[in-house]
Amino acid sequence: MIQVQLIKELKEYIKTQRVSGKSIGFVPTMGYLHEGHISLVKQAREENDYVVMSIFVNPAQFGPNEDLGSYPRDLERDTKLAEEAGVDLLFFPQVNEMYPQDGGISIHAGAQANVLCGASRPGHFDGVLKVVTKFFHLVEPTTVYFGQKDAQQLAIIETMVRDYNFPLKVRRGATVREPDGLAKSSRNVFLSKAERAHAPIIHQAIQLGIEQYKLNQNIEQAKQVTTQHIENAISGKIDYVELLSYPNLTTDVSNDTTVILAVAVFFEKARLIDNILLDRK
Ligand code: PAJ
Repeated sequence: MIQVQLIKELKEYIKTQRVSGKSIGFVPTMGYLHEGHISLVKQAREENDYVVMSIFVNPAQFGPNEDLGSYPRDLERDTKLAEEAGVDLLFFPQVNEMYPQDGGISIHAGAQANVLCGASRPGHFDGVLKVVTKFFHLVEPTTVYFGQKDAQQLAIIETMVRDYNFPLKVRRGATVREPDGLAKSSRNVFLSKAERAHAPIIHQAIQLGIEQYKLNQNIEQAKQVTTQHIENAISGKIDYVELLSYPNLTTDVSNDTTVILAVAVFFEKARLIDNILLDRK
């Protein structure tokens, strides 16, 4: 596995692959890798000749009171895991390599960012779009891989790629979970022992809400079932429980054939998110 920190070097390696007609699969991450990230690499490995992963804790997507400073990092371990998973090139730039200057031009997500995580993290998705746009131009991937765990991020990126004709395909990866149902996340390390014991309730609650929704398509009841189940069992505070159309993310669920039931819960040192997509076709 090739390890690269500089854009100039990255572009040389990418050019070599492209001139020989290789397809490039790209998995962007913020590191502290777990099986969710690795499953995206495996998918990319199966579908491409060459696999690139980035590890970059992107300051542009963190708010002033968020966990940029304490976001977990372990590059040595990540390097080993990435290599074992079949990554060909690992790109881990420094902040000043990615953002050497600021010309004041920004990319704004649309209405999809006004709900769910976007409502409690203003500017977050603009920061995500900023960094993925840069990565897409640097890596020139054939196909990019994003997890359904961050379903809103996935929907917004798919919209940008579609509306602005990015010359690449976006592929979705299913959410990888712990045996007890908790969605794998780099932030799970921030949970106390007691919080970790309760955290699988989030997934259970979403499953119950979806079952309720299937019964009578009543959005409020489905949200209520989910909320109640979480409030009965978890010390953390609910940020949101929402049932929306997907990928448009509107309250009028007739806008899409899929709906999303999504939840965010604040624990002492971590905010966890999870969701289920229900296809109604
Ligand atoms: P990060 O949280 O490191 O996630 C990187 C990719 O892994 C994302 O596409 C995310 O949806 C996926 N992922 C995370 N947990 C997963 C799980 N349990 N199952 C399946 N996939 C999972 O998302 C980001 O980084 C950043 O916002 C990024 C896109 C890299 C831009 O900075």
